[in-house]
Amino acid sequence: MPSILVLNGPNLNLLGTRQPEVYGSVTLEMVEQSCAAHGKTLGYEVECLQSNHEGVMIDAIHAAKGRHQGIVLNAGAYTHTSIALMDALISVEVPAVEVHLSNIHAREPFRHSSFIAKAALGQICGFGAQGYLLALDALAAHLKEAGKA
Ligand code: DQA
Repeated sequence: MPSILVLNGPNLNLLGTRQPEVYGSVTLEMVEQSCAAHGKTLGYEVECLQSNHEGVMIDAIHAAKGRHQGIVLNAGAYTHTSIALMDALISVEVPAVEVHLSNIHAREPFRHSSFIAKAALGQICGFGAQGYLLALDALAAHLKEAGKA
């Protein structure tokens, strides 16, 4: 079965207890379980990884080449700082959809810019945990259209 990597970055392991008024009360485990279930309905196996370390995330993106058809990425705060994650995505040429639980454009100005967006097919933000499922839908539709599904 083709597969998609759902990659979460720093502090997203704290979902459920971290600023629930901003990020909701759903835990990362629940997000990952619903991604796996939704992925299956789309015909994809979903592998999930969360790391608080930029280098581990870069290694995961490198390892995705030839192994996963696409990536759903919430890079957390690295979104706004990491040229290295952007370069990794551009280097491996694995299609990626950027996700944020919160609407980063309605928050502090430093959250309005995204290095990930420069390397992603598109960005989904502001829909809470539902955003991951929308990202899987978008990725599956893109892969089908590109003849890669
Ligand atoms: C986030 C938004 C980022 O600005 C923040 O640093 C996060 C979470 C989101 O999912 O809304 O850690 O990526």
